[in-house]
Amino acid sequence: MTERTRPFTTTDAGIPAESDEHSLTAGPAGPILLQDAYLIEQMAQFNRERIPERQPHAKGSGAFGRFEVTNDVSRYTKAALFQPGAKTDLVARFSTVAGERGSPDTWRDPRGFALKFYTSEGNYDMVGNNTPVFFVKDPMKFQHFIRSQKRRADNNLRDHDMQWDFWTLSPESAHQVTWLMGDRGIPRTWRHMNGYSSHTYMWVNADGERFWVKYHFKTDQGIEFFTQHEADQMAAADTDYHTRDLFEHIADGDFPSWTLYVQIMPYEDAANYRFNPFDLTKVWPHGDYPLTEVGRMTLDRNPTDNHAEIEQAAFQPNNLVPGIGPSPDRMLLARLFSYADAHRYRIGGNYQQLPVNAPVVPVNTYSKDGAMAYRTTTDPVYAPNSKGGPAADTERYGSPPTWETDGHIVRSAYVDHAEDDDWGQPGTMVREVLDDAARDRLVDNVVGHLLNGVSEPVLERAFEYWHNIDKNIGDRIREGVRAKQDEKDPKAAEQSNPARRAMQEKA
Ligand code: NDP
Ligand code: HEM
Repeated sequence: MTERTRPFTTTDAGIPAESDEHSLTAGPAGPILLQDAYLIEQMAQFNRERIPERQPHAKGSGAFGRFEVTNDVSRYTKAALFQPGAKTDLVARFSTVAGERGSPDTWRDPRGFALKFYTSEGNYDMVGNNTPVFFVKDPMKFQHFIRSQKRRADNNLRDHDMQWDFWTLSPESAHQVTWLMGDRGIPRTWRHMNGYSSHTYMWVNADGERFWVKYHFKTDQGIEFFTQHEADQMAAADTDYHTRDLFEHIADGDFPSWTLYVQIMPYEDAANYRFNPFDLTKVWPHGDYPLTEVGRMTLDRNPTDNHAEIEQAAFQPNNLVPGIGPSPDRMLLARLFSYADAHRYRIGGNYQQLPVNAPVVPVNTYSKDGAMAYRTTTDPVYAPNSKGGPAADTERYGSPPTWETDGHIVRSAYVDHAEDDDWGQPGTMVREVLDDAARDRLVDNVVGHLLNGVSEPVLERAFEYWHNIDKNIGDRIREGVRAKQDEKDPKAAEQSNPARRAMQEKA
C-alpha cells in the first residue's frame, strides 16, 4: 500500500467521508438513501453557495496590499494612516457598475475603486470610482439612475433609450456622461486607471483645524484605454479580462501601484468658492486647488478565496476614522447609511466579523448575538455600567468633524455658487482637455451609443444635451447620427423625425 500524501476528505463536521464519487444506494440499481448525510450536505451546501450580488457594482474583483505615506500631511489631518512613516494594510476591489456578476469587464461604465484600510484606529473605507464626478447630485435620484442603466421590466434587456431618457432629463449628468463617453469610459485594465474619492471629505488636524479634501489616486502604470471596438472584441474573447489581468500581474510579482494626491481647500473657502465644492457633478480645477502628494498604494497579494475575501468584502463610506469626516455632499451623506444596510441584507448582520471585514484593532463593542455571531461577548452587556466595561473616550473622540447649517428643513436644490451650471465643466473638458483624436473618438462613441436603440424624442433631446456641452460636438453628433440613419433607411428616418423636418423647413 502506498503512503498517502494528500489529506482525506471530511464532512463539514470533520468526519472522514466514505466516498467522493458514489452515493449510498440500496444495491447498485437501487434508490439513494436518506441516510447518506454526506450527499445531502453536499447538495444543501451547494444550494446556498451564492449570496445576493451587490445591487450596483456586482462584477468585480480585488487584491490586498498596503498604503505607505511619502509626504507629511499631518498639518491637515490627524488620521493615523496619513501620519509620516505610517504603513497600513488594505484590501481593494474594482468593479463595473451596471452589469451583473457574470457581465463583461470591458463594458463602457464607470469603475468602482473601493478601498478598506486596516488602520490602527479602526477600518477606514474610501469607496470611490475611477471618475472624479457622478451622474446625479441628490440621493433621491440614485436608485432611478441605476435602474435606468440596468434592465427593462418587460424584455429584461438593457436599453440605451432609457439611459438617454434619464440622462437628458437630468442635465446634471452631463459632466459624468462626457467623461464616460470619452476614452476613460473603458480603461484598458484596472491597473491603468485612476481612482477618485469624487466626494469632498473633511480632514481635521491635531489642533482641530478643518479642511475640505478630495482624493486622487493616480495610476503609476499610466492611463491606458480600450476603444469601443477593442472593448467589444475583448468582451467576446474574454469576459473577465480585467479580473484576469489584475490577478496574473500580482501572481507574477508585477505589483500595480497608485500615488495618492489630495486637493486641499481651507474650510472658509467653501462658502464663496466659484463652484459649490460639495456638488458631486463638479471638480475643483487643479489651477484653484493643486495636488499635494500623500503616499503610495501597492497591491501585492491575491485573494486565495475570492468568495470569502472579495465577494464578502463589505465597503462602507461611513467607516471614517478620527481626522476624517464627511462633508455636506448629500450623496455622500446618503451613502453613509446605504452601504451597511446593503451588507446586512447581502451578507448578514454580523458581516463585520468576517476576516476580510474585521479590523486589526480590538473591537470593544456592545453589539452582540445575531445569526453567525463569531466574536464572543463578555459581561457587562450594557452601558453605562460600573462593572469595568468599555466606556467612550469623550475627551479624545467626543468632537466629531462637523460644520454649520442654516437650520431650515427644506427640500431644495443645492445653492448655486457663482459659476455653477451643468454644462460648463464638461464643456471645458471637451474643449481644453481632449485633443482632436480624443474628440473624434468621443463623437464616434456617442453616435454609436445613440444609434443603438435610442428613439425620438429622446434622440432629439440628446442632440440638444450635447449642443449645450459644446456646440461643435453637438452638431457633429447630430450629423453623425442622422447620416447613419439616412444611409440605413432614408425614408423612415425622414418620417420618424418631425423635429428634424421642422428644422430643415426652418433652414
Ligand atoms: P487640468 O488640465 O489641470 O486637469 C485635467 C484633468 O483631466 C487631468 O486630471 C487629467 O487627468 C484629466 N483627463 C485627461 N484626459 C481625460 C479624459 N479623456 N477623460 C477624463 N479626464 C481626462 O484641468 P482642470 O483641473 O482645470 O480641469 C479641466 C477639466 O478637466 C474639468 O472641467 C474636468 O472636466 C476635467 N478633469 C478635472 C479633474 C480635476 O480634479 N480637476 C479630474 C479629471 C478631469 P491625468 O492628469 O490623470 O491625465
Ligand atoms: C456599491 C449605494 C453612490 C461607489 C454600492 C452598493 C450600494 C450603493 C447599495 C452595493 C454595496 C454592497 O452590496 O456591497 C449607493 C448610493 C449612492 C451611491 C445610495 C448615492 C446616493 C456612489 C458613488 C460612488 C459609489 C458616488 C463613487 C464615488 C461604489 C462602489 C461600490 C458601490 C465602488 C462597490 C463597492 C465594492 O467593491 O464592494 N453603492 N452608491 N457609489 N458604490 Fe455606491
